[in-house]
Amino acid sequence: MEIHFTEKEEAILKKISAAAEQLHMPCYLIGGFVRDKILHRATKDADIVCVGDGLKLAKTASLQFHPAPQVNLFKHYGTAHFKLSSGFDIEFVGARKESYQSHSRNPEVMPGTLIDDQNRRDFTINALAISLNKADYGTLIDPFTGLDDIENKIIKTPMDPSQTFSDDPLRMMRAIRFATQLKFTIEENTLNAITKNADRIKIISQERITDELNKIIMSTKPSIGFKLMFETGLLHYIFPQMEALSGAENIDGIGHKDNFYHTLQVLDNVAAKSLDLWLRWAAILHDIGKPATKKFEEEHGWTFHGHEVVGGKMVPKIFNKLKLPLGENMKYVKKLVELHLRPISLSKENITDSAIRRLLFDAGEDIDDLMILCESDITSKNKQKVKRYLENFEHVRERCHEVEEKDRLRNWQPPITGETIMQTFGIGPCRHVGDIKNAIREAILDGHIPNQFEAAFQFMLAKGKERNLKATDKA
Ligand code: CTP
Repeated sequence: MEIHFTEKEEAILKKISAAAEQLHMPCYLIGGFVRDKILHRATKDADIVCVGDGLKLAKTASLQFHPAPQVNLFKHYGTAHFKLSSGFDIEFVGARKESYQSHSRNPEVMPGTLIDDQNRRDFTINALAISLNKADYGTLIDPFTGLDDIENKIIKTPMDPSQTFSDDPLRMMRAIRFATQLKFTIEENTLNAITKNADRIKIISQERITDELNKIIMSTKPSIGFKLMFETGLLHYIFPQMEALSGAENIDGIGHKDNFYHTLQVLDNVAAKSLDLWLRWAAILHDIGKPATKKFEEEHGWTFHGHEVVGGKMVPKIFNKLKLPLGENMKYVKKLVELHLRPISLSKENITDSAIRRLLFDAGEDIDDLMILCESDITSKNKQKVKRYLENFEHVRERCHEVEEKDRLRNWQPPITGETIMQTFGIGPCRHVGDIKNAIREAILDGHIPNQFEAAFQFMLAKGKERNLKATDKA
């Protein structure tokens, strides 16, 4: 198998090869870089394994570059790395093996050969190495038939999968992440071992888990990963609120849709339209309040009243637990969850200007994203129904456009500030200020007055009068 490096890569690898030659230290490219080269995927950083002292090789290799990059050492992992000015990151590690002592369950890590090191890696597709040694430069070293697994699209561990997963339970998430990103199948034994060891994910830090989860979400078809997490039981440990969406109950022959699979469909739909991680999170969470609000009502069948409000309240808690950022991104997701029914309920009625204004006011900058989420939420198999909904949404979009042109509400700032109200009536901060501001906003949204300073000012004077407030001379 011929592997083609770009000219730039070739120049870098030749320098590392020269450094290894100087030290008489065998060294190899290994891991994701080799895998991605074979798959013709873009590569971003490279891992080098050497039979000897990785730090020494990193230092010698760094001196081949001008100016020499700074070598950083990660003592805990026994690795050293440097970044080139182009942004290309190279990590060095000495080959290791594990030795099991009878008195301890934890293996001792000690220097080993290349094959020892390949054996400790997570998947056969990540255990392929390419020699950087002068004698056989460029040769692929593939003791676990990783190349075949790449060709056959298979994720499989080099050793007993339970051992591989117990060494690092995060690898269960990585297996699912690679299966999702690459559209590979997880080999049966490996998949069974994930199911068997799923609860061990509890010992992994939330940050590492969430990192993998976000990579699954950013794949072209994230549902693949969620289904695997659900089927192996991992979802139960890492995201129980989502697992709770699954199942379709039936009473008196009346069922409801399985909200887990519906959510996955919505997520895939959004993923086909947007690369925004947070919009994808909004898709994942849009119906998260359904299990808590589910009821069977004699006259209506299954209902989920207020699930958007309950769901909105769950967003900060879930973000907090998953260690996702709690600032603007969280607020954005919460807002979309809260608003996700608005366009659909609007499209069912005669759309008044004021209803559109309120939607524009509440969604603000995020109106387009909200419309993507709502369109993605139509997962009916009934083609006629889908067509009708999409046409209605198109109408809502047009109406939003019209009203926006006219009233400019997308980034609405009140035309009259609290400061102006206080100055006009010569009052300090008090209940009247908030009440008058709200009254102005409502009048604009209802279309009683235009979204303009002069009209709002006159309206404010009238509201003040009703409250026996006197405008000062300055007004
Ligand atoms: N590796 C491993 N077990 C882990 C993490 C990594 O065995 N839990 C090994 C694999 O051989 C992997 C290599 O270390 O290929 C580099 O890991 P990393 O950079 O995290 O992942 P990549 O495989 O390069 O993939 P990606 O860049 O997509 O994360």
